[in-house]
Amino acid sequence: MKKLFLNLKNVLLILVCFSIFQANADELFNKGKEVFLGAGNCAACHMLSDAGSNAMVGPNLNEIRPDIQRIIMAVRNGIGVMPAMEGILTDDEIEAVAHYTSVAAEQ
Ligand code: HEC
Repeated sequence: MKKLFLNLKNVLLILVCFSIFQANADELFNKGKEVFLGAGNCAACHMLSDAGSNAMVGPNLNEIRPDIQRIIMAVRNGIGVMPAMEGILTDDEIEAVAHYTSVAAEQ
């Protein structure tokens, strides 16, 4: 009986940890979406259905489905006519917008 109780406690603990992890991931996603639509101005140039943007200046992100590293490179350093955002966005904002874009582009 005691053993069963301990097991239940472990299951509960795992559930709690998992929901905290989930909440953090959602928070990063939401923050990234804010940057995409706001400070990063990504929506002005890129199509991404989750963000409701239809701009065609840069590539359609739903089509190229960039991974996190590719997004971070483009956002930090700029590419072609896309301006570098290092110094304009904080590291946290760049991380958030890269997380958001890679997840949203997969959908
Ligand atoms: C002024 C318009 C503009 C803005 C603002 C802009 N982009 Fe871009 N982006 C472009 C263009 C144009 C390209 C294609 C550049 C090329 O390949 O020559 C591009 C390319 C990319 C690529 C592909 C990079 C690669 O390796 O091919 C990604 C990912 C990307 N942008 C993400 C973003 C994100 C995220 C933001 C917001 C933080 C953003 N862009 C803001 C115009 C823009």
